[in-house]
Amino acid sequence: MEEKILKIKENALVDIEKAQNSKELEEVKNKYLSRQSELNNFKKSLKDIEPSLRPKIGSLTNEVSKYLEEKINEKYNEFYKSELNAKLNSEKIDVTLDSAYIPFGKVHPLSATINEIVEIFEHLGFSLIENKLSPEVELEKYNFDLLNVPKEHPARDVQDTYYSYAGENVVLRSHTSNAQIRQMQNSHPPIKIVSPGRVYRNESVSARKNNLFHQVEGLYVDKGVTFAHLKGVLNEFIRLYFGSARPTRFRNSFFPFTEPSAEIDVQCIVCQGKGCSTCSGSGWLEILGSGMVDPNVLKGVGIDPEIYSGFAFGMGVERLAMLKYAIDDIRLFFNNDERFLKQF
Ligand code: DAH
Repeated sequence: MEEKILKIKENALVDIEKAQNSKELEEVKNKYLSRQSELNNFKKSLKDIEPSLRPKIGSLTNEVSKYLEEKINEKYNEFYKSELNAKLNSEKIDVTLDSAYIPFGKVHPLSATINEIVEIFEHLGFSLIENKLSPEVELEKYNFDLLNVPKEHPARDVQDTYYSYAGENVVLRSHTSNAQIRQMQNSHPPIKIVSPGRVYRNESVSARKNNLFHQVEGLYVDKGVTFAHLKGVLNEFIRLYFGSARPTRFRNSFFPFTEPSAEIDVQCIVCQGKGCSTCSGSGWLEILGSGMVDPNVLKGVGIDPEIYSGFAFGMGVERLAMLKYAIDDIRLFFNNDERFLKQF
């Protein structure tokens, strides 16, 4: 019996030696020290052996299991240290490494410009109108007729306006002024709105012109609105958008839907007024058209021009963005070149 116990001890020591890691050592521990282990069976069967032998065998099994337990713990401690170190090394985070490149989206410069323009007019008491009152695919009636644009007006020429296959009277709107008519038909004065959006013109594309571009339309109709209000509001807009340093001028003009009409020019940003190809040598760039709403237009939408008057304006968004950020080619807005877009 003694021999058997010593044999178990010997085997156990070999197995402990052989264990390569804490997991294998755990198995060794189970094999030799668990309840089902041989040694434990000896302890359980002590009652069956000769009483005189019991103390000796009993203390020997206890000694051996204690000894094995110590050996296993010793080795376990070694494994624990080296395994913990290995784990710490493998999970180490190098905070000096560059992180993965995740590009951030940005607001397109045209959207940013539209937002800025609209915000300025909101600050001046104008409201942004609903999209459905400003459709891009439009009836000629709203794009031209009700705006007092006569049938023979050159703006209607197929050269300028895209006509739709959807119907003879359907066009891609050539300006945002259609929004004025729809707004006036859908509400009553006082009306004080702005309406941004896309417009289309059948033009050959160049650094200065694109066949798709953006405008912001504005309309103020109430009792007693005068040209002084127009000047006051638009001057304030220019001051807020460009800062007071940029020279501007009001210039007499003509639009079928306004009387009198005025255009506002801003000093050319490329040549600072000296004259260059961007401003066709004039030193000025037109940024908006405006005027007092023609009485015919008011009548057409059922507003009595004897009681009400108003002013309107339409500005080119690309133009305004180009002037502010010194961009010399309108096509840059539409090419989606990341190197350009990232700068805003
Ligand atoms: N619709 C004109 C254009 O596209 C701009 C314009 C001029 C709009 C005068 C207006 C206005 O509302 O009153 O060139």
